[in-house]
Amino acid sequence: MFDLDEPRATALITGASSGIGAAFARTLARRGYDLVLVARREDRLRELANELQEGRDIHIEVLPADLGTHEGLGKVTDRITTGGITMVVNNAGFGASGEFTEIPIERQMQMIDVNVRAMTAVAHAALSSMKEKHRGAIINVASTVAFQPGPYMATYAATKAYILSFTESLHEEARQHGVAVTCLSPGPVHTEFQDIAGFDMEEWPAFMFEPVERVVSEALDAVRARRALVVPGVAPKAAMVGNRLVPRFVPRRLAALLFQPDDEKTA
Ligand SMILES: NC(=O)c1ccc[n+]([C@@H]2O[C@H](COP(=O)([O-])OP(=O)(O)OC[C@H]3O[C@@H](n4cnc5c(N)ncnc54)[C@H](OP(=O)(O)O)[C@@H]3O)[C@@H](O)[C@H]2O)c1
Repeated sequence: MFDLDEPRATALITGASSGIGAAFARTLARRGYDLVLVARREDRLRELANELQEGRDIHIEVLPADLGTHEGLGKVTDRITTGGITMVVNNAGFGASGEFTEIPIERQMQMIDVNVRAMTAVAHAALSSMKEKHRGAIINVASTVAFQPGPYMATYAATKAYILSFTESLHEEARQHGVAVTCLSPGPVHTEFQDIAGFDMEEWPAFMFEPVERVVSEALDAVRARRALVVPGVAPKAAMVGNRLVPRFVPRRLAALLFQPDDEKTA
């Protein structure tokens, strides 16, 4: 069984060049982990590696890869299969907002490639090698939109629902092999995510956003406790519980009202 505090553990983090992935890298470096940092922007990964290396006796590997391509995904799964990885943070992903037919289909297929296809292949490589050694931990990053339909982000919400269902299933399969599998489902966090997805959340109250450091520390606590699912923060937990208590059309309609682009509201 993997002990989170064991010396010289190695974590591979996808999407480490910004946001939640970079915060995982910072926290795990402070805890003495060796790191493998994955994303497309190599310059960002090198900058982060230099920052984290400073004054620490840890090994940091930079692995630039586009998880939306066959070649990039192969580089990452090969690295996992090569061995020595004790934790995988399967975090890379992006969203897109707007009416389904207004978002280019290529962008949405790319999203499915990264959020679903690559996430599944990375988890497969990780669990296959961890189960042989009977130790390891996998964190798959979903979202609170995984718990409900997401009008005006239909494909994104569906990719996250896949991750939630998939990860809870893997959690049960993996426990007999001594591998911890946890689904991290954050609510809104200030990262580059909103700009890339085109979500206008500037007027959302501050209490709706979770600090990225808290998201990471709650996720690691959940791994330590061998939990299948963690929703960091009070507001997202309350929203998740509320969702379960009301008929399914309620959060669906509310999300439609909240996320419908202003220029379409007159229709
Ligand atoms: N922020 C939120 O409000 C929020 C809420 C719930 C869930 N999430 C989830 O949290 C995860 C991390 O998002 P974030 O908020 O940290 O957003 P972010 O700051 O935009 O980070 C996304 C990361 O994913 C990487 N990535 C995107 N496409 C990739 C590709 N094709 N190949 C390799 N890496 C790729 C990006 O790196 P490069 O661009 O350098 O490749 C970046 O490091 C995502 O799965 C997101 O869905 C975020």
